[in-house]
Amino acid sequence: MVAKKPRIVIIGAGMAGLTAANKLHITPGSAEAFELCVVEGGNRIGGRINTSEFGGDLIEMGATWIHGIGNSPIHKIAQETHSLESDQPWECMDGFSEDPLTISEGGYELNSSIVKSITSLFNKLMDFAQGKAVEEGLSKEEIEYLNLAAKKASSVGAFLRQGLEAYWGCVKGQEELKGYGNWTRKSLEEAVFAIHENTQRTYTSAGDLLTLDYDAESEYRMFPGEEITIAKGYRSIIESIASVLPPGSIQLGQKVTRIQWQPNGALDVENGHDFRPVKLHFSDGSVIFADHVIVTVSLGVLKAGTQQGSGMFDPPLPTFKTEAISRLGYGVVNKLFLELSPSHDLGGGNLNKFPFLQMAFHRPDSEFRHPKVPWWMRKTSSMCPIYGKSSVLLSWFAGKEALELESLEDEEIISGVSTTISSFLSNSNSHHGNGNSVEIPNGRELEFHKVLKSKWGSDPLFLGSYSYVAVGSSGDDLDILAMPLPKNSTNNGYKNSSPQLQVLFAGEATHRTHYSTTHGAYFSGLREANRLLQHYHLSL
Ligand SMILES: Cc1cc2nc3c(=O)[nH]c(=O)nc-3n(C[C@H](O)[C@H](O)[C@H](O)COP(=O)(O)OP(=O)(O)OC[C@H]3O[C@@H](n4cnc5c(N)ncnc54)[C@H](O)[C@@H]3O)c2cc1C
Ligand SMILES: *[C@@H]1O[C@H](CO)[C@@H](O)[C@H](O)[C@H]1NC(C)=O
Ligand SMILES: *[C@@H]1O[C@H](CO)[C@@H](O)[C@H](O)[C@H]1NC(C)=O
Ligand SMILES: *[C@@H]1O[C@H](CO)[C@@H](O)[C@H](O)[C@H]1NC(C)=O
Ligand SMILES: *[C@@H]1O[C@H](CO)[C@@H](O)[C@H](O)[C@H]1NC(C)=O
Repeated sequence: MVAKKPRIVIIGAGMAGLTAANKLHITPGSAEAFELCVVEGGNRIGGRINTSEFGGDLIEMGATWIHGIGNSPIHKIAQETHSLESDQPWECMDGFSEDPLTISEGGYELNSSIVKSITSLFNKLMDFAQGKAVEEGLSKEEIEYLNLAAKKASSVGAFLRQGLEAYWGCVKGQEELKGYGNWTRKSLEEAVFAIHENTQRTYTSAGDLLTLDYDAESEYRMFPGEEITIAKGYRSIIESIASVLPPGSIQLGQKVTRIQWQPNGALDVENGHDFRPVKLHFSDGSVIFADHVIVTVSLGVLKAGTQQGSGMFDPPLPTFKTEAISRLGYGVVNKLFLELSPSHDLGGGNLNKFPFLQMAFHRPDSEFRHPKVPWWMRKTSSMCPIYGKSSVLLSWFAGKEALELESLEDEEIISGVSTTISSFLSNSNSHHGNGNSVEIPNGRELEFHKVLKSKWGSDPLFLGSYSYVAVGSSGDDLDILAMPLPKNSTNNGYKNSSPQLQVLFAGEATHRTHYSTTHGAYFSGLREANRLLQHYHLSL
């Protein structure tokens, strides 16, 4: 009789799942030791990595940046696979846009000194919140104040606003600005501050920064070095990781509907002597038995799957697990791509010079708001071409606005964006600046002929974009999410302790310091593969 090989089933063919599969396959002795397969509910691999094409350019619907190339395993793979060069133009091929043109509602181009001072204030506050050394730029009093503000604030949002108030309390003797219509200096400063808050919403996926936990912010880690996009697309990284797996080991279109496991060591009779403790049910009615499953579905899918009555786990996950799942934050971030009409005639203006436009909107309670700007555009911090001469423009959305975007028809999006952007660019009030702005004659609107948007919130395989530590949770919850089941305890009240490591968890939301990123997902996949390798004494 041939000894039964442990069967490992990985749920999800995103970065975490494929990295785990890769590790379990390439470790010496391991390919022979296990039966291994990856089951994926969608019809493609990559998960929240979704490289696409738009207007002839390579663009990313999901993961976009390598967040710091220093020590990044993703950057290493990109280099090894020559993914950082390409002949086809790609999103952000010339890096981060710099030199924004900041315009306030009504079409007033802002004096760069206002933008610079508020931007530098905001950056200092975020650096402080993230625990980076900013002491050089701050006086003793300021540091004292910020420490106090930090103690009082439970959220990043509250802390930032206290910082802005303090700034207003300190700067004195500034003359009122003239030439900005109904805008006052203070309202302009606040609007510029809000641009950065809105960018922060897209970075973190916290639709409301008042729900973003303050203390966790300093636990988050970034890699050093520049941030870049991948010329051949993020997909090329995923394909390289998947390429070592034998054909047939990734099964697409296999959506898991129920995970039955054995926390109490009760023997599954149905399963006979070929005992494997975990039984996976699929949407087509088929089942697979496994010794170990690595669950890599998003935190959003876990949240939905642990709602009362959902029954994704049978028996339900223990309370310590479901509580962590429900406490942690998971938000929606979407990207919107728009292609400018080729026939566009800006009355002599040059479309190739579409700026990195930052938009300073009036406050929600302001009476001066442009009535035709739709509410879902009002937290959009910027719109800019995906590289210098591209006619494809990109904006990021978060929270309610991002979710609304998913439900809108293309025509509604085009009309809402066009009205908004045109009102910012067409007014003749932009005589404050350096004179390089695109201007649209009054009464004309920018024309777009094509739209592409991501839909992370409503797609049942994701139900959102990435996780964050919400007020009320902490880094501990990310660690709890990573704990395998059944919980290893010598005395769980049963005579036969149940088989170990039945259900393991990987995915970006299980990494305490690199959550919300591709490399976080990568590390989590390695971690769970190593856990199994160690269990079977296969690790080096
Ligand atoms: C808009 C956006 C922008 C981003 N930008 C960046 C960035 O610039 N840099 C960065 O580092 N990260 C970025 N991220 C985050 C990054 O994409 C994710 O952190 C990472 O890809 C998550 O990988 P994962 O393996 O944990 O999860 P996923 O990629 O979600 O993989 C899980 C897989 O499980 C599958 N699945 C779900 N339910 C089931 C089921 N019931 N049965 C079977 N399969 C199922 C899903 O289809 C999916 O393929 C971004 C994400 C989004 C959405
Ligand atoms: C911006 O404002 C500063 C101070 O308020 C002033 O000195 C400067 O000339 C202004 N710059 C422009 C371009 O208007
Ligand atoms: C200021 O706001 C009022 C009321 O909305 C409006 O009538 C007026 O035209 C505005 N002034 C300028 C200069 O925009
Ligand atoms: C992935 O990209 C395709 C376009 O290539 C798009 O149709 C699809 O909606 C994207 N997925 C999500 C969840 O946004
Ligand atoms: C479970 O706990 C025992 C005793 O504390 C330990 O020897 C064993 O390695 C643990 N197993 C796992 C899978 O963590």
